[in-house]
Amino acid sequence: MTDPTPVPYAGPERVLSGVQPTGDLHLGNYLGALVKFVAMQERMQCLYCVVDLHAITQWQDPKALISQTREIAAAYIAAGVDPKKAIIFPQSAVPEHTELAWIFQCVARLGWLDRMTQFKEKTGKHKERASVGLYTYPVLQAADILVYQATHVPVGEDQRQHLELTRDIAQKFNHDFEAPNFFPLPQAMVEGPGARIMSLRDGTAKMSKSDPSDASRITLTDDADAIAGKIRKAKTDPEPLPSDEEGLKGRPEAENLVGIFAALSGQTRAQILATYAGQGFGQSFKPDLANLLVEKLGPVSGEMRRLLADPSQIDAILADGAQQARAIAAPVVAQTKKLVGFWGA
Ligand code: AMP
Ligand code: TRP
Repeated sequence: MTDPTPVPYAGPERVLSGVQPTGDLHLGNYLGALVKFVAMQERMQCLYCVVDLHAITQWQDPKALISQTREIAAAYIAAGVDPKKAIIFPQSAVPEHTELAWIFQCVARLGWLDRMTQFKEKTGKHKERASVGLYTYPVLQAADILVYQATHVPVGEDQRQHLELTRDIAQKFNHDFEAPNFFPLPQAMVEGPGARIMSLRDGTAKMSKSDPSDASRITLTDDADAIAGKIRKAKTDPEPLPSDEEGLKGRPEAENLVGIFAALSGQTRAQILATYAGQGFGQSFKPDLANLLVEKLGPVSGEMRRLLADPSQIDAILADGAQQARAIAAPVVAQTKKLVGFWGA
């Protein structure tokens, strides 16, 4: 059967994104996700969750999980997400996510999940020891998004494939249950200079929470000395900074540092290069970059510390957010169950 010309999704535009409470946030999370979260809250209704259900796909110490969940919520707010404008909540406090995820597990095909590169990266050679949840992780992510009929998802480059899967699930559900446009086909908002920040030790590996080397990443908890030290030691090559972007080709570490400078300063790479062309990295580029990082991240970590000093304030925001999120999710799940044919729905 060929589909007739598709009618665009007619519901309201809505943003959903999430970050896992699995450790200190780093510069990649900040530029790839948080900065975009803040920008979007002025444009449409936004929901930002702390994805604790995703976190437990790999072992998490229960006591640490609670405080890490509060930390991510604090980071959202410290970065500029305003709880009066956007809904901030823990994923596990909205059971509709898991309810929809089960239905989606019956929509998604094994072949689709077999193609997911993040699962392969996370498990390496030891696939048989991974949790089943780690395998179906992207299906839960699709449910996170579609349970709010979200249309826009601000994320880093590494999430592109999960967003494609989300669209495939939405499309198959709409088709199988003859509900054209019930679920929107959400767009990944990956664009921007911070979409893929690389490790400071290896310009070909992405900056990540799980890299064993702490020197590979700048975290939101690093103080000025730690930042300066990590930037001073950041890997570069012996050539001076080039005069144009063409000259960054084949120099991943140089490209990454210039990219970080551009993303944080709001300048283009060409503007940065115009300032530092011909100089060695250590001369003034690295000290200036370290200062810029301290200037941008310092206030965020200061505000995070202030917020975390009184967890009851964060808990109140999370509880209120969960209630608001459920009010949107519950009718979507109710309609989904009706479409599937469940008794009593
Ligand atoms: P995670 O820490 O895996 O929960 O990631 C949270 C968000 O940060 C997601 O939107 C990721 O795509 C984004 N992110 C993670 N690492 C990076 C990176 N190195 N560069 C840009 N964005 C990233
Ligand atoms: N998989 C995302 C990550 O590792 C986190 C995530 C879970 C997410 N659910 C989401 C991101 C829904 C966007 C939308 O970064």
